[in-house]
Amino acid sequence: DWTPDAFVETTVEELREEIGDEKVILGLSGGVDSSVAAMLLNKAIGDHLYCIFVNNGLLRKNEFESVLDQYKHMGLNVKGVDASARFLDALKGESDPEGKRKIIGRVFIEVFDDESHKVENAKWLAQGTIYPDRIESVSASGGPSAVIKSHHNVGGLPDYMKLKVVEPLKMLFKDEVRRVGASMDMSAEILGRHPFPGPGLGIRILGDITAEKVAILQEVDAIFIDGLKKWGLYDKVWQAGAMLLPVDSVGVMGDERTYEKCVALRAVESTDGMTADWVNLPYEFLQKTSNDIINKVKGVNRVVYDISSKPPATIEWE
Ligand code: XMP
Repeated sequence: DWTPDAFVETTVEELREEIGDEKVILGLSGGVDSSVAAMLLNKAIGDHLYCIFVNNGLLRKNEFESVLDQYKHMGLNVKGVDASARFLDALKGESDPEGKRKIIGRVFIEVFDDESHKVENAKWLAQGTIYPDRIESVSASGGPSAVIKSHHNVGGLPDYMKLKVVEPLKMLFKDEVRRVGASMDMSAEILGRHPFPGPGLGIRILGDITAEKVAILQEVDAIFIDGLKKWGLYDKVWQAGAMLLPVDSVGVMGDERTYEKCVALRAVESTDGMTADWVNLPYEFLQKTSNDIINKVKGVNRVVYDISSKPPATIEWE
């Protein structure tokens, strides 16, 4: 019978044997899969595992700092690379969703390649690929492995893609990955995280991306997600987030008409992201969240809740 404890024990042994004293590079995304893969490798080879966590400037509010802290706490040999400016610069003026994805993917590869060159004599690239990733074309977990997948038939591979690949979770489903993480005492905070797309807030800001829009959406998203946690709703939802819409919504301030941003909140139930239903969140929660957002986030005057199921309405708006 499969148990997480036995899986950890045999996998750690196999990794030790396979890798020996060679060096391994791994891209952490903040998500469950890459984090659990890193912990397994850390158990097997310790500081011969070199983790790289890239801030693309499109993460949730305070995410980069807080997740980096958690990784260090877990004893991982991790380097945080803040490349926000590089991503935002490359994205300037691009409003096409696929165009934005391509830019984010390309810059990620450049940054990751630069960083991997700094690890002298690395021989392996570890990835948090899980079983469903090998079947589906879009990885819900996103991040480094999704980027690699979508680029693997482009000519002229970056150097890190020429490394030997090790994928300790490739036979597991998501719930098994969570159980493996729990058996290594990883925090519920990391193991229970909602999926988050690799391009991050970049595909939740409809249209072109600016630093100002990112800052607005981070505030809105933080109020929504913190609220879900406070109300005990976070674990009942498969994925949640906010979209910044490219419309100016009219409002009144005294005798004046003002034009400010409109945001859409989305929360879905799903098992694999392929189909999804919107979640029937309590009206009191929606009321409080909407008031908080409009009162606290400058530049937003309207909040709507997305009540569309997938298919046909995808989870992301872009
Ligand atoms: P959709 O919007 O297609 O999303 O219903 C299904 C799941 O995939 C995530 N998603 C992405 N993940 N890169 C990713 O790594 C992407 O470009 C991307 N687009 C969507 C989405 O967040 C959901 O979990």
